[in-house]
Amino acid sequence: MPEHDKTADVAVLRGVSPAIGRCELTYLEREPIALDRAVAQHSAYASLLRELGLSVVEIPADPELPDCCFVEDVAVVLDGLAVLTRPGAESRRGEIAAVEEVLARFRPLAHVEPPATLEGGDVLAVGRTLFVGRSPRTNAAGVDRLRTLAEPLGYQVVTVPVTGCLHLKSAVTALDDERVLANAGWIDPTPLRGLEIVPVAPEEPGAANVLRVGGAVVAHPGFPRTLERVAARGYDVRPLDVSEFLKAEAALTCKSLLFRR
Ligand code: GLY
Repeated sequence: MPEHDKTADVAVLRGVSPAIGRCELTYLEREPIALDRAVAQHSAYASLLRELGLSVVEIPADPELPDCCFVEDVAVVLDGLAVLTRPGAESRRGEIAAVEEVLARFRPLAHVEPPATLEGGDVLAVGRTLFVGRSPRTNAAGVDRLRTLAEPLGYQVVTVPVTGCLHLKSAVTALDDERVLANAGWIDPTPLRGLEIVPVAPEEPGAANVLRVGGAVVAHPGFPRTLERVAARGYDVRPLDVSEFLKAEAALTCKSLLFRR
């Protein structure tokens, strides 16, 4: 097993809004979210990232912004640049300002202008390739804007059609720079050729969103068959319960922006 490779040393998080019960939902039916449990799960998430060696910067929650803890969607942090997105969900555009203020300490900033929409949940970085989902939240102009900003920095941008879920990373996340965990039924996996695809267990279609932190893979324990598949390949799997956030159509990657200082 590789040592934790320290690809990231900072995690930006944002607290859980007391309004999370009014979060955006696209594919899921609304069910009650227990705020106290969500806050406890968020706190455990921050603790695990610290244990894995990251410095955690936490932005306070905004009671007017139900989805504000899902910071991944409002920025894409590249080597040399942080791109503030323009979420496809209008209710989420107010989340940008507070995250922008923090990221300005670490990177020059760029923005996504109308009519482009882009959400970070649609941007999967694997090495220097950015796979970008065309999804309900990210349009062609959003992909083009990211390409314009990222290619001069040495990234390649590859579009992936998203057909069955909210974001690209609902269907596929990276285990390392050669291997991804995926539910290939929710995307067109053709653009991922060249990567090894570890399929989620068929009875766990929502299990693909795991969080890679160095050599560790943080994963929701409610998907045990998929976790077994990942562990069997030698990864240091760290179970972390995010059940309340799954009800908000979110998961592990959504709750942080990880990058190297
Ligand atoms: N609730 C997460 C989202 O729809 O953006």
